[in-house]
Amino acid sequence: MKTQSTIAISRRALSTVSTVSSVSSVSSVSSVSSVSTVSPFSSVASVSSVSSISSVASVSSVSPISSVSSVSSVSSVSTVSSVSSVSFNSNQPQPSLLKFVPPHIPANSTDSERLRDFIFTKKKLLCLTGAGISTESGIPDYRSEGVGLYATSKKRPMQYTDFISSEAFRQRYWARNFIGWPSFAALRPNNSHQFLADLEQRHPDILLWLVTQNVDSLHVKAGSQRITELHGTAFKVICLSCGHTTPRTEYQSELRALNPGFQVAQPVLRPDADVDLSDEEIAQFKVASCGKCGEGVMKPFIVYFGENVPKSRVDFLYEKVDECDGLLVMGSSLQVYSGYRFATRAAEQKKPICIVNIGSTRADHLSTLRFDRVRCGDLLANVKI
Ligand SMILES: NC(=O)c1ccc[n+]([C@@H]2O[C@H](COP(=O)([O-])OP(=O)(O)OC[C@H]3O[C@@H](n4cnc5c(N)ncnc54)[C@H](O)[C@@H]3O)[C@@H](O)[C@H]2O)c1
Ligand SMILES: [Zn+2]
Repeated sequence: MKTQSTIAISRRALSTVSTVSSVSSVSSVSSVSSVSTVSPFSSVASVSSVSSISSVASVSSVSPISSVSSVSSVSSVSTVSSVSSVSFNSNQPQPSLLKFVPPHIPANSTDSERLRDFIFTKKKLLCLTGAGISTESGIPDYRSEGVGLYATSKKRPMQYTDFISSEAFRQRYWARNFIGWPSFAALRPNNSHQFLADLEQRHPDILLWLVTQNVDSLHVKAGSQRITELHGTAFKVICLSCGHTTPRTEYQSELRALNPGFQVAQPVLRPDADVDLSDEEIAQFKVASCGKCGEGVMKPFIVYFGENVPKSRVDFLYEKVDECDGLLVMGSSLQVYSGYRFATRAAEQKKPICIVNIGSTRADHLSTLRFDRVRCGDLLANVKI
């Protein structure tokens, strides 16, 4: 029975889906001839494929964000109130920040109008974001063609069981994360994060809730408050013995105190602040245990592969799906079931689903409006709110 109803929904969706901006090939993609601007990740190895990245024609006076308050205590579920907003003066990121965006084409104003129409005809919009929304902030995603972690490296994200079962593994993990942290923590939200924060602030009657699969807390830095960080946040650590949580910035100071002088020239950053270190470097590193109970193992407040999202968090979000009158997915392949399930739930209820994602997604057949090959920031730049 379940299969039949899913097929029926898929047929409905297929008959109404409009694919916007699709192109038969990416031959129109123009190249960035020189990406000389220094970014937090200027030493990243995977920049070789930058030549296939579409150019931003006018990158005029991008003003750096003046102040981003540190996300010291980010609640992973529901309201986050302690992080002040940051503002942007430009809709276009610096070219160097586009090096992790896969090949794409320019968005046009018709696309933006159609997206605006989708958003502004809703009274309870649920928004789901993934790693793709943060590539324009300089963080690689996993599955992007050419520039994502899976395309550029044999390294795979940490498995929960590895972290739990091996002290050597934890030493390796924290040594690498310690080096990568300052760059990761300094990353700025881009205009897509800002768009969603502004939408919430200016149109609280439209945006019901935002759920992100990202752990970078860039939505929180941008000022979003009605937000659930589905997979937690890298900005907190938790003791696996007593449950005590500590801001990641404080834990960094503890690690620094234990490892004075531990540093690496030109680290190569991956998602989640991971960097490459040699075995000799790792062997010197000392891991700090829980500051409260004194001996507990500290783990990032992140749901890792092989670990389940807490049921209460999932149930809360299913309620939001049930309550919403439309789902907007941005920058996620939805390959991970954790996020995909919300799209299937919305489709079961015949709710309109708009997907903005450069590459294909697992829920394309469920979408009623689809923007492919365009990057979020470009499309949203002309969506007036
Ligand atoms: N920034 C982060 O916190 C981060 C980074 C990597 C992975 N993750 C985790 O890994 C999982 C990966 O799943 P996922 O679906 O989020 O990522 P994914 O890598 O599977 O998919 C990202 C998708 O975004 C698209 N994309 C990339 N840049 C884009 C842009 N600027 N505009 C539009 N589309 C763009 C790509 O085509 C790709 O299909 C998530 O559950 C997440 O927790 C988090
Ligand atoms: Zn403890």
